[in-house]
Amino acid sequence: MKYWKKLSHKEQDKIITAALDKNINYKDFTPLGIPVSKLDPNVFYEHASFLNEAPLLRTYIQNPNHIGCHTLGESEPFFEGTQQLEREIIELLSVDVFKANINSCDGYIAAGGTEANIQAAWIYRNYFQKEFEAEINEIALLSSSDTHYSVTKAANLLNIQSVTVDVDENTRAISVASLDNKIEEAKRIGIKYFIVFANMATTMFGSVDDPDLYAERLTIARVHYKLHIDGAFGGFIYPISYPENNLNFANEHVSSITLDAHKMLQAPFGTGIFIAKKGLMQFVYTKEAQYVNGMDITLSGSRSGANAVAVWMILFTYGPHGWFEKINKLLYRTQWLCGKLEVYGFAFYRHPNLNIVTIKASHIPADLAKKYGLVPDTHNSPPNWYKIVVMDHVEVDYLQLFLNDLRERANSYFQDSTPVSRVP
Ligand SMILES: Cc1ncc(COP(=O)(O)O)c(C=O)c1O
Repeated sequence: MKYWKKLSHKEQDKIITAALDKNINYKDFTPLGIPVSKLDPNVFYEHASFLNEAPLLRTYIQNPNHIGCHTLGESEPFFEGTQQLEREIIELLSVDVFKANINSCDGYIAAGGTEANIQAAWIYRNYFQKEFEAEINEIALLSSSDTHYSVTKAANLLNIQSVTVDVDENTRAISVASLDNKIEEAKRIGIKYFIVFANMATTMFGSVDDPDLYAERLTIARVHYKLHIDGAFGGFIYPISYPENNLNFANEHVSSITLDAHKMLQAPFGTGIFIAKKGLMQFVYTKEAQYVNGMDITLSGSRSGANAVAVWMILFTYGPHGWFEKINKLLYRTQWLCGKLEVYGFAFYRHPNLNIVTIKASHIPADLAKKYGLVPDTHNSPPNWYKIVVMDHVEVDYLQLFLNDLRERANSYFQDSTPVSRVP
């Protein structure tokens, strides 16, 4: 690891305090022209003694605005202290987790995975338009049917078509035949440029796509493409549980990655992360943003710098070994659950390096799913699957209670159904 290490609370406090000191201090300087200020002191009491021990809460009170992208060009000087911490997060994640070369990536803390995915699609749409003079109806977004709906949202917003590839019902792997067919169909209607979204853990199954498969089939089809990894769920697990994976910047086909710190990292909501190889963010430069110092190249405008500090603190509280231990605890619990489901004969899907277990809905009475807060694949028709996400709060004791109930109900419930079997 080049950057990622563990820091004590005291060490973190010192660094965050120094960063806040470099941000604007409204006691010493009264800027007349910017519509920002610290949190309203009539509402948010700023002299509570516990704040001395709480650098994140002090950051919330100072309320830095991280508008813009701080890994290239200039940024608003009022918040340069905490912007530096955001820069450190982007560099740490790109180099230590996603195998990029030093200083080879840009990125920012987005509002969530949805924004980061839209940012990616926006960059590549503009890239094809600017570099290849592509017409809007020649560009399509390509992804599997297990892909998060934010990708369809991106296609809709950007006025480009969305091409969806089938996956195998049991293995959730992309069907090569379907991929080839969809590419050919798209070419027939004039699509020449593809924006590919490969999943590093799909929302419902935790299944992982092979970016090299997309690259191979699109190369054979002689079309242009750019490839983005959606690691909103898996980005803080999969690179740790399977470091040999090919969904990172060491893979020449990968141009950008989405992460969500507000999922597995348990950061406050509003902490998606977008990382792209240098040279790409510029394709969404909004030249009309004249009053902002620096280049406006992010989908969000104003955004809280406290979110960046929260992510920074989580990463440096655990350090790489602490995080490895935490992920492995969750994977142990997942493995335990899968072992029991197998012994009892319930059909499920689970990727071996991830902490989602998706059970055939035909094996789960609906009231039991509701009692234990399982999530169905659809709310609009009878579900096919229910998922369990083994997070920090999902302890083996609770899984055991669920399994006890499930077994008790199974015999009577499945009297007339076909015998259950494991999904490979
Ligand atoms: C794979 C994947 N991508 C994108 C998203 C969207 O993330 P957010 O809700 O943070 O916008 C999710 C959310 O569940 C997801 O699982």
